[in-house]
Amino acid sequence: MTFRLHPLVDRAGRFSPIKATVFALLLVPGLWTAIDLATGNLGPRPFDAATRETGTWTIRLIFLSLLVTPLQQLAQWPKLVSVRRMVGVAACVYGLAHLALFVVHERYDFVKVASEIVLRIYLTIGFAALLGLAALAVTSTDAMIRRLGAKGWRRLHQAVYVIGVLATVHFFMQSKLNVYQPLVMAGLYLWLMLYRIVAARSPRARQTPLLTAGVLAMAVAAITALGEALYFRLARGVDPLRVLSANLSLDDIGMRPGWMVLFVGAAVLTVIALRLAVLRGSGLRLRAA
Ligand code: HEM
Repeated sequence: MTFRLHPLVDRAGRFSPIKATVFALLLVPGLWTAIDLATGNLGPRPFDAATRETGTWTIRLIFLSLLVTPLQQLAQWPKLVSVRRMVGVAACVYGLAHLALFVVHERYDFVKVASEIVLRIYLTIGFAALLGLAALAVTSTDAMIRRLGAKGWRRLHQAVYVIGVLATVHFFMQSKLNVYQPLVMAGLYLWLMLYRIVAARSPRARQTPLLTAGVLAMAVAAITALGEALYFRLARGVDPLRVLSANLSLDDIGMRPGWMVLFVGAAVLTVIALRLAVLRGSGLRLRAA
């Protein structure tokens, strides 16, 4: 069986700088959290804090793995696809660490852990997402692709879209009071999904213009702001207009989730535009602008 998940080499067996860099970057949050845990830097409830850290990185990595295909298409960067599996497997590893820390928090009482997962709906949802991630990780080898057939494998790996929803719902449900980050993640998830739908319907498939992705980012930022207003109306009875006007206020209340979604979208698109400019400058022929 050939196992092509080697973090340092490409398919031809040559050292791959892009894979090595991404591999090193993927280790950073885990090592950082482990060092903080070992040196008592995580506050009065270190295992709870480490559970939150690893959970946050799990969802970020799921979304990063979803970002690889649009990035590869928009930035005309075919080599990026070589890191998609690595990011997906890393999401699973962080998810397993997140579960392990929860087990430590429950003092290794596995019966309690199992009953919590069954009884608390947000944990049931998180567990379902983790099972899905594990299924995708173990089927991410070349040998598995051959065994399942390219079509079957692709269909199975579309489960990542459902996993993205489950992860976001789990994030929302455990957040209790502060839903800022889950709202941002929900907005970014919507952006990634809308981009895929538009790209799939585009007459020149895989050549969706950058401008389209920008317009989608603006639309999703507005939807996120409306979602925030709706949440505060339903959960806290706050006047939606007050929440919406906070988006336009210059008072020091921090960047609202809608603006954050727009900021992240703009940052991603700026990186892509810079790469395209560099490619153009170096005289390489571009497929589409
Ligand atoms: C793919 C699967 C999962 C993802 C993406 C995920 C993600 C997250 C995220 C983002 C948070 C919030 C972190 C924060 O507040 O900053 C969180 C919290 C939490 N998750 Fe998960 N999770 C997953 C699976 C699980 C599983 C399987 C369990 C346990 C059975 C679990 C237990 C918890 C607990 C207990 C918290 C609250 C921690 C605290 O506030 O002290 N999660 N998770």
